Amino acid sequence: MKKSPNWKNNTLSDTSNQTLERRLMAQAIELAATGIYTTAPAANFAGVFTLSGNVVASSARKTSIERCAIFQQAQALLRSEQDCDTVYLTSEPSHELAQILVTLGIKQLQLACLLEPEQTEWRNVCEQGNIAVAIGLLESEAKALNHDLWFRRQHGRPFVRLKLAASLDGRTALKNGQSKWITSSEARADVQLFRAKSDVILSGSGTVIADNPSLNVRWSELTPLHSIISQDQLRQPARVIIDNRQQLDQHYQLFGLPGDTYLVASSEHKNTQAKTLVIAEQNGHVCLSELMLKLATLSFNSVWVEAGQTLAGALLAENLVDEFILYQAPKLMGSSSRGLVDLPEYTQMSQVPELSLKQVDLIGPDLRLICVPKQ
Ligand SMILES: NC(=O)c1ccc[n+]([C@@H]2O[C@H](COP(=O)([O-])OP(=O)(O)OC[C@H]3O[C@@H](n4cnc5c(N)ncnc54)[C@H](OP(=O)(O)O)[C@@H]3O)[C@@H](O)[C@H]2O)c1
Repeated sequence: MKKSPNWKNNTLSDTSNQTLERRLMAQAIELAATGIYTTAPAANFAGVFTLSGNVVASSARKTSIERCAIFQQAQALLRSEQDCDTVYLTSEPSHELAQILVTLGIKQLQLACLLEPEQTEWRNVCEQGNIAVAIGLLESEAKALNHDLWFRRQHGRPFVRLKLAASLDGRTALKNGQSKWITSSEARADVQLFRAKSDVILSGSGTVIADNPSLNVRWSELTPLHSIISQDQLRQPARVIIDNRQQLDQHYQLFGLPGDTYLVASSEHKNTQAKTLVIAEQNGHVCLSELMLKLATLSFNSVWVEAGQTLAGALLAENLVDEFILYQAPKLMGSSSRGLVDLPEYTQMSQVPELSLKQVDLIGPDLRLICVPKQ
């Protein structure tokens, strides 16, 4: 008679065991977090292989295109005939990895969360191989590892972060358009980290014409990452520039930099060799919600916006901003300078959009505020 597997839902035997199991899963989650700069659009994923509570091997996915490093680690264990009894994975294994776990003689599989609950093939493999599966250990921590991927699956569009740099009086550029550099080098280094985590950097033609920005990630400015990833693992987010009036041409520096650049317009862009994302017009501009749906179909999970007040306001008006990251420098630029976002003229305070403050930090001499739309 076939032994029925032990499907547990985070029911752990005793306190000391629980502490050990949590510690081992925390180790897997920490490992998986090293992939947040490199694995997208694939999920961050890691595993810890143990024998009687002692770690025999551990491994994390490093890039989206590699054959998963955990898979290779499991094969290496097989080749060396290394024993292990329990594996801690941040999310469910592929069908192929589950087969290797069976061959390894694994008795128990601890999963923090399920990324694709509808997939059952790996479960059948575990069941036939008599691997007991427990799900839910440090579940919310593991889900947070793949926040933007979850968001895209749930909402059908990427998670959008709007970054703005302003003076203390909320100004983003002088009247003549100059905005380099309102904030400190520390704040700009912090922006590099956010860019490196993002799949897309979105901007508008106004910003490209005024600043000729590079909108890329630069290894030399990412020193906190040097101990986590290698330079060749660093990926360039795709640059997506809205230019419906086709004002841009090839001489702007971002077109010559490594990484993909897309222009967004309602018809094929004629002035550059960049790919065009053709998006229908709405009131004379490209439809921003349709653009987001298009980016989701290209498997982009997250969008980092660095734009002027026009595009920032348009995204807000369409409820397409999920998080605001505002760097505020202790400077005063005066009321002739440009504001933070273009919004309609309100006549009642009740009409004013409200945000909830999530986090406040000092980055060098500047303030960094992270806010979310008030529910
Ligand atoms: N402090 C900061 O954080 C910061 C960051 C970036 C830029 N800046 C400054 O901002 C200034 C440029 O800002 P800007 O406001 O002129 O330009 P922008 O916001 O960067 O770009 C405007 C773009 O948005 C598009 N657009 C406008 N309304 C739209 C709508 N309703 N739907 C869809 N697309 C829409 C326009 O497309 P069309 O082709 O249809 O017109 C245009 O391509 C510069 O001075 C720059 O230095 C400051």
